[in-house]
Amino acid sequence: MAGWWDSVVVPRLIRCACSAPGIMDVRAQVVPKAQGAVFELGCGGGLNQRFYRAGAITSFAGLDPSPLGLEQAREEAARKGWQADLRQGEGEAIPFADASFDTVVCTYTLCSVHDPARVLAELRRVLRPGGRLLFAEHGAAPDPGVARWQRRIEPVWKRIAGGCHLTRPVTAGIAAAGFAVQPSGQRYIDKTPRFAGWMEWGEAIRTA
Ligand SMILES: C[S@@+](CC[C@H](N)C(=O)[O-])C[C@H]1O[C@@H](n2cnc3c(N)ncnc32)[C@H](O)[C@@H]1O
Repeated sequence: MAGWWDSVVVPRLIRCACSAPGIMDVRAQVVPKAQGAVFELGCGGGLNQRFYRAGAITSFAGLDPSPLGLEQAREEAARKGWQADLRQGEGEAIPFADASFDTVVCTYTLCSVHDPARVLAELRRVLRPGGRLLFAEHGAAPDPGVARWQRRIEPVWKRIAGGCHLTRPVTAGIAAAGFAVQPSGQRYIDKTPRFAGWMEWGEAIRTA
């Protein structure tokens, strides 16, 4: 039952939730900044692909553990008509060489990985020095009342929502991994419960 829920139901629910207008608006601000050799972590669902400027990109690779999410991403790539190297795997062990990419894109994925610090170290490793991590993530809310609810709900939420955590710091977590963060925005998503709706987005430079 858990296998069926996680592999069949969760990717469809997530794709639906992650297509909400407030989330698509943020993708439209973040993703078009990608250029050069691009790697997207958590590429499942393929919802970012329509926002890439194909003319600014020399190659596109992605990684996601979900077979169904990858299938959806490959369908998006076919619709877009571009070559995409989309692989199954996890961000804790990215199967690409050091300094392979000019841009790394990570949207609504750090909430779900097993070990965010290790994943961020991997993202830093595969970026070239001076390269940019473009991020948009939901996470720990700044309001104490909302944060309290996030802590209460998280144990159940992560079991039904594909391992999604509610209490992870976004910008602070990325800065702690050694990136120079340039925040672009933060707010609650419209029409989403506040415990799941605090978003932060921007870019983070690999400085050395
Ligand atoms: C909420 S969905 C977001 C999908 C996509 N990034 C987006 O913006 O629509 C979370 C994604 O993270 C993926 N994921 C979960 N654990 C992961 C891990 N350890 N490494 C990489 N991706 C992971 C899931 O398969 C899923 O595709």
